[in-house]
Amino acid sequence: GHLVPSGPPSPKKIPPWPSELCKGCRECYSKTWKKQEDNYRNFSSQLRSQCQGFDRAIITQANTPVGSNIVYSAESKRTLMVTPGIFSTFIKENPFPQKKWDTCAVVGNSGILTNSSCGEMIDSAQFVIRCNLPSLGKGYEKHVGTKTDIVTANPTILVRKYGSLNGPRRPFVESLHIYGKSLLLLPAFAFGFCTPLCLKAAYSISDIESPIRPTYFNPDYLRRLSNFWRSRGLHRGLPSTGLVMVNIALEHCANVHVYGFWPFSIHPFELNAVKNHYFDDKTGKWGMHSMPAEFNQLLQLHSQGVLRLHLGNCR
Ligand code: CDP
Repeated sequence: GHLVPSGPPSPKKIPPWPSELCKGCRECYSKTWKKQEDNYRNFSSQLRSQCQGFDRAIITQANTPVGSNIVYSAESKRTLMVTPGIFSTFIKENPFPQKKWDTCAVVGNSGILTNSSCGEMIDSAQFVIRCNLPSLGKGYEKHVGTKTDIVTANPTILVRKYGSLNGPRRPFVESLHIYGKSLLLLPAFAFGFCTPLCLKAAYSISDIESPIRPTYFNPDYLRRLSNFWRSRGLHRGLPSTGLVMVNIALEHCANVHVYGFWPFSIHPFELNAVKNHYFDDKTGKWGMHSMPAEFNQLLQLHSQGVLRLHLGNCR
């Protein structure tokens, strides 16, 4: 065979950051990050006063009595009067403690988590939030961890992956075992079609007696949050699930660590391609959200020391 002369290894090329990112953004991202207590306090108290997620992000029997009128978050003309039947599926009280958690991890689903070795760091947080029924376990543990305290479920998954829950419900309920006793947060009052689907999910869980606790996003909170971000320049559509969960974390946790947020197809520090999800390559339907614009906002919060965004390898 041919012998290839082996010269010195060529220095790793640094790829440009995606053009959707703000100018000079690479400089916003510093690995030697330091929390800026004043900025954190300021931002989290603005969220608390303007969005009131602290006791309103989740619908409870205490904040949404029988007879109240729910206005849908993505269809403002649609309303629903709370009947005793629907009310009985609401969690009794605010599931969050009065005292803030010390550390929270919010885990998005970007393929940037693949080979990140972030699992241990994610699991070391006091409270772990995951989005959209992500894959966990075998092969993923090292990179995304195993612990879950809140997991969200997008109704389109219930439609696509679980046949709208029209058939046997056990496969769906059994697939939730990986999330243990966590809260399952469902957007039951975003669009009209979400309500029967999310109620079916909640009934399936209580019928089969699974430990996971179904709850619903409060559309009133989602609207406030959307206005909050609109006034900060996010004009397109509703905040993505990931951004919503980061905001909930900022009201509840002193130290917010964010993983798996990178809505771009090239890795920020390596040259390799990044999948949309760490567990599949389904491309997102981002019609309603503007992920790159959201990411710019997160990057700014990182540079202001409000939260810590993890992009590279955790080792
Ligand atoms: O629920 P949705 O379809 O919005 O998102 P997902 O793909 O299940 O991922 C959950 C969250 O992670 C998103 O809402 C985004 O905030 C974030 N994400 C990201 O930043 N970059 C990606 N490539 C994929 C997701």
